[in-house]
Amino acid sequence: MDNQLWEKVDDYLETALDGRDDVLSEVLFSSREAGLPAIQVSAMQGKFLHVLARLIGARRVLEIGALGGYSAIWLGRALPPEGKLVSLEVDARHAEVARANIDRAGLSALAEVRVGPALAALPGLVEEFGEGSFDLSFIDADKRNNPAYFRWALRLTRPGGAIVVDNVVRQGRVADTAAALQTVGSKGYDGFAIAFVGIPQPSEVAS
Ligand SMILES: C[S@@+](CC[C@H](N)C(=O)[O-])C[C@H]1O[C@@H](n2cnc3c(N)ncnc32)[C@H](O)[C@@H]1O
Repeated sequence: MDNQLWEKVDDYLETALDGRDDVLSEVLFSSREAGLPAIQVSAMQGKFLHVLARLIGARRVLEIGALGGYSAIWLGRALPPEGKLVSLEVDARHAEVARANIDRAGLSALAEVRVGPALAALPGLVEEFGEGSFDLSFIDADKRNNPAYFRWALRLTRPGGAIVVDNVVRQGRVADTAAALQTVGSKGYDGFAIAFVGIPQPSEVAS
């Protein structure tokens, strides 16, 4: 098995399960035209995030690492009209492209891209929204800060919510966090770590 085969199967799944999505094709095209690197999640990974958000009934989503807004659009489409997605992006050019793409997808009313280093923005999110106020956090930025991002996500994600960390396998070079799910496909061999934010057992809740 090699990357070429994974890529072919991903292409097949994308066509068979998802059909053509003109908006997402335009999003990828405009990101390429703007010179952004093609390091967004694959279509199937985006769909997985979308389904996960719907399964947990997500209303608020936190994303760390927007790039051109591709995964933000998959996630934003899972939210109800009054939902909210906050995506943190350090690169002003990436954020600009992401905003245009989010607008193209008709999600500007609920999805917001904030520019700056995520670690500088995260404490402010606790102040602004409160602890445990997000249903789903997706971590996909600079990998060396993943442990710190994960700790912030734990504070910001509600009990019963989920945290997904991308790129934890990296061609077999497993990172600090344990991989829960290996992924292969058009993005090569990698993996998502998925953490369920625990709900305290009755015995653990102080009376
Ligand atoms: C892999 S890309 C994100 C892909 C996006 N989640 C998607 O799938 O469409 C990583 C992004 O994180 C951004 N990034 C890197 N370091 C960051 C930091 N310290 N704070 C916020 N964003 C950062 C990069 O500029 C890049 O746009």
